[in-house]
Amino acid sequence: MHKITLIPGDGIGPSIMEVAVRVIEASGVSIQWDHQIAGMAAVDAVGTPLPEDTLDSIRRNRIAFKGPLTTPVGGGYRSVNVQLRQMFKLYANVRPATTFEGTRTPFNNVDMVIIRENTEGLYSGIEHEIGTDDEVLAAESIALITRAGSERVIRFAFEYARKHGRKRVTVVHKANILKKTTGMFLEIARTIAGDFPDIEFNDRIIDACAMRMVMSPEEFDVIVTTNLFGDILSDLAAGLVGGLGLIAGANIGKEYAIFEAVHGSAPDIAGKNIANPTAVILAGVMMLDHLREHEAARRIERAVREVIRECRCVTPDLNPESGYGTQDMADEIIRKMQSV
Ligand code: NAI
Ligand code: MG
Repeated sequence: MHKITLIPGDGIGPSIMEVAVRVIEASGVSIQWDHQIAGMAAVDAVGTPLPEDTLDSIRRNRIAFKGPLTTPVGGGYRSVNVQLRQMFKLYANVRPATTFEGTRTPFNNVDMVIIRENTEGLYSGIEHEIGTDDEVLAAESIALITRAGSERVIRFAFEYARKHGRKRVTVVHKANILKKTTGMFLEIARTIAGDFPDIEFNDRIIDACAMRMVMSPEEFDVIVTTNLFGDILSDLAAGLVGGLGLIAGANIGKEYAIFEAVHGSAPDIAGKNIANPTAVILAGVMMLDHLREHEAARRIERAVREVIRECRCVTPDLNPESGYGTQDMADEIIRKMQSV
């Protein structure tokens, strides 16, 4: 029996997490869910976005399955996602994007994994305003990149490539302009590449990389990059394969791991039963692989891909004429799991 902290999240979170739990349980894996809250849901219930009980639960279970959390833009509290990643030292954010048969996208040859540094860079949370008591005249955010933080995520990327039979690691940077920070990241990657002669290594500058990901996505296998670049490129990769509703991410550290979708709480579609549950279900698949429940993981993954391939009982982001919603799509995935 696995014990897992379950955080439903905000916006579309509770509805897609509820069906993801149903799909995971239908695979036969035995899980005891430890229900906790975070984000706006926690602010409304207990007055703080990251309650101590939730942190204690993650410390105990070491694994969490998390819905998207709303972060206010501008003022308000600091991103709970960023805080969780920093507190639990979840230094590698693994985001696979592989073409789904049946999606309406011009790309049918995408098979890449973006590994995003997840705890530092421009998201370190070191920000200042400069000015007078009356007026802010300037503001700065510091991109803190450490040697140790870079080494551990780059090494993780090479080891990931080796373990998953992938051929190439591409480091993405902006070392021509940000010479000290991403320059160091690149230099460390070059050194570590020497320890992995079986894995091809190359580098791309972020802006040109964005263009190449669209023009020739088949060039990319494993990408490793700093926090902000990884955030942006993983949404781009989601766009290549059919949208944000499809892409999952694993936040991995030495002791803890948190599994979630790449997308956010999608307030524009919350409460309409049209959110695509695929991303959180596939986050569940990554979690099952982490728990070495590979057979259950493959069964769910096959069923999800089959339902998307048929493009019939899917949410409107995949087929605007389908007339089906979140619950229907999950039911269809469960039927497929039982029939194969
Ligand atoms: P978003 O990812 O929530 O939505 C972007 C667009 O994609 C929207 O049009 C939305 O309807 C669509 N979309 C997202 N998930 C979908 C799904 N499962 N099915 C169908 N369509 C889907 O990004 P946005 O709007 O910028 O952010 C909303 C909130 O989510 C913000 O408060 C943000 O801070 C938070 N957020 C949280 C994340 C997390 O918890 N890991 C990650 C990204 C954003
Ligand atoms: Mg993002």
